[in-house]
This record gives sequence, C-alpha cells and structure tokens, in this order.
Amino acid sequence: MQRIILPRPDDWHLHLRDGAMLQAVLPETARHFARAIIMPNLVPPVVTLADAAGYRERILAALPEGTAFEPLMTLYLTEGTDPADVERAAGSGLVKGVKLYPAGATTNSQSGVRDLDRVMPVLEAMARIGLPLCVHGEVTSAEVDIFDREAVFIDRVLAPLRRRLPELRVVMEHITTEEGVAYAAEGGDTLAATITTHHLIINRNHILAGGIKPHYYCLPVAKREKHRLALRKAATSGSPRYFLGTDSAPHVDALKEHACGCAGCFTATNTLSLLAHVFEEEGALDKLEGFASRNGPAFYRLPVNTGTIALEKRAEPCVWPAKIISEVGPVTVFDPGFPVHWHVLP
Ligand code: NCD
Ligand code: ZN
Repeated sequence: MQRIILPRPDDWHLHLRDGAMLQAVLPETARHFARAIIMPNLVPPVVTLADAAGYRERILAALPEGTAFEPLMTLYLTEGTDPADVERAAGSGLVKGVKLYPAGATTNSQSGVRDLDRVMPVLEAMARIGLPLCVHGEVTSAEVDIFDREAVFIDRVLAPLRRRLPELRVVMEHITTEEGVAYAAEGGDTLAATITTHHLIINRNHILAGGIKPHYYCLPVAKREKHRLALRKAATSGSPRYFLGTDSAPHVDALKEHACGCAGCFTATNTLSLLAHVFEEEGALDKLEGFASRNGPAFYRLPVNTGTIALEKRAEPCVWPAKIISEVGPVTVFDPGFPVHWHVLP
C-alpha cells in the first residue's frame, strides 16, 4: 500500500460565502486544511478591517466543534479603500492580503477597481509593509476574448504595475495559461502564483464538447489543453513560485444550471485526493508537499503547519457525496470524470 504524509496543507484561495452556505461548506475545507486565505467577495464585500474581523468571527462560529482551522482574511480593494485601515488590518495579524478584482471580472466584483491610479496610495502602503496583493488577473474589456483575458491582463496591467511598484508583493491568483506560468516563473521573490485543482484536470473541451457542463464553468475559464499541461508542469516542478489555491467556489445548483450560470467549481471536498492523483500521474508525488503545504506559507511568511495528514492509495476508488446539502440548496461537488484511489486518512 502506498502512503504519503504531508504537513497539514493550506488553501491559499477559498470562497466560503456566509450564513447557511458558510455553515454547509466550511467543514469540507476544515476537515483537511489548517488554514485558508478567505476571499472577500461577499455581498456587500469585506472592505475594511472591521468587516474582516466580523466575517472571521462568523467563520470561527460556524466551525464544527473541536475543529482547528484558521481563516486568513483578505480585504476587497475598492477605489475608496483607506491606506491607514489597510495598515491597521495588516498590523492586527488577522488580514494577510488585499484582493484586487478588476471591476466586473467575476462573481460579485462590481465594487472592484476601475482605475489603478486611484488605489496607488493603498498599494504603496502595502509595498512598504510587505502585505501581499492577491490579483484576479483578467481584463474586463468587452473587446478582449474571454480566453485571452489573462494574458492581456499580464501585459496591460500587471507588468506595468510591477514596474511602477517593484516592491509590491503579488500573488497571481488561479493562473490558467502558459503565459501566467511563464510570467510567474520570472517574477523574482515578490511574485507567486496559485493554481487550482480543477485547472490541473479540465480544459475547455470539458466545459463545451458533447453538451455544456455548467459545473466545469469557472473564472478564469479553463483554456486549451496546452495551458492545462503548462499548469501541471508548473505545479509539479518543485518551484516555490507556485502553490495551491483551490478557488473552491460554491454556488447552489439552481444558479449553476441556469440560463446565465454562475462561475465556480466546488472542489473543497475532494481536492487533496485529486491532487495526489494528478501529482502521481506526473511522476511527482514528492512535489505535492511543496505545492500543498510549504510554498504558500513561505510566500505569506507564515510557519508551516505542525500537524500532518496522510493519504493512502487503495484498490477501491474514493467515494464522495455528489452534492453538499445546504439550507439554501444543493452544491455539486467537482467530478473529475475518472476514478481516484488516493484516500485521505481520517
Ligand atoms: C468565484 C466566485 O464564485 O466567487 N468564481 C470563480 O469562478 N472562481 C470568483 C472568482 O474567484 O473569480
Ligand atoms: Zn476565487
């Protein structure tokens, strides 16, 4: 029997929502992960330190009895964000990053940034204190093809911003292209990139060929196969620039299976088993520890978790619930489309 033991992993990009949805999905992450960077795109968004502290309390209150899980909070950057509040947030120790959503890029991003000039004082303060900017790297211009929005964002927005403010520490969230992989590779110590589980598994054919599959639709949208292969190579390379951010993003089925379906794949439940499968396929099981447990803390300047988690490869495939049931409706768990044999031990 093959076994792997990892320091308890962290998820460096997670959507937990609030209320009944939070209650339903939090145990799925807390079961396996010690910490997660919590996305602030609630309605209304988590903008201030006070918002983040309140949300953090609601997360802690929703934890199942006896579960240890640390939510690492982020602030949603708006054109009205006060640099002094951001500095206080970093100083409080509760907030570990500030999230840049270009206005209109994705779910609940209406309050995002339209003009970077307007947030320069905040970014300058962050550069000074070393607080990371977590970037949703897609342009939103209607004339840019949705499959090109990441690459265009790097050229038009991210590269100029990093030339203007080289000390700013940046996480390229959920990269999906070979351009994203290449840019992150060359960025030096101030740059890192998260990669989701599902982008290592699906390409755009999975969404669109043989009938439209709304549960594979997320943002940034999965790209061509060559991009998936570039992401696999990056994730399993051992480079400290890349680490896990699942972007597990629950939406109830009624809003996924809809004429205007929401973006998001829900992978909290089976991410670790899927990753072991992917890393084994790439002949890189020894690199999973860096990707899931070590590279993230190194970039965020946090200690590696002291506990461990074990996975065991068994003849029988893993069985997960097809759906997580919440009071607001069912949420479909990501289906990789193949059997997975790496069981997480309790
Ligand atoms: C996320 C969500 O639903 O909040 N959706 C997604 O497809 N990833 C937003 C995001 O991270 O873009
Ligand atoms: Zn996300």
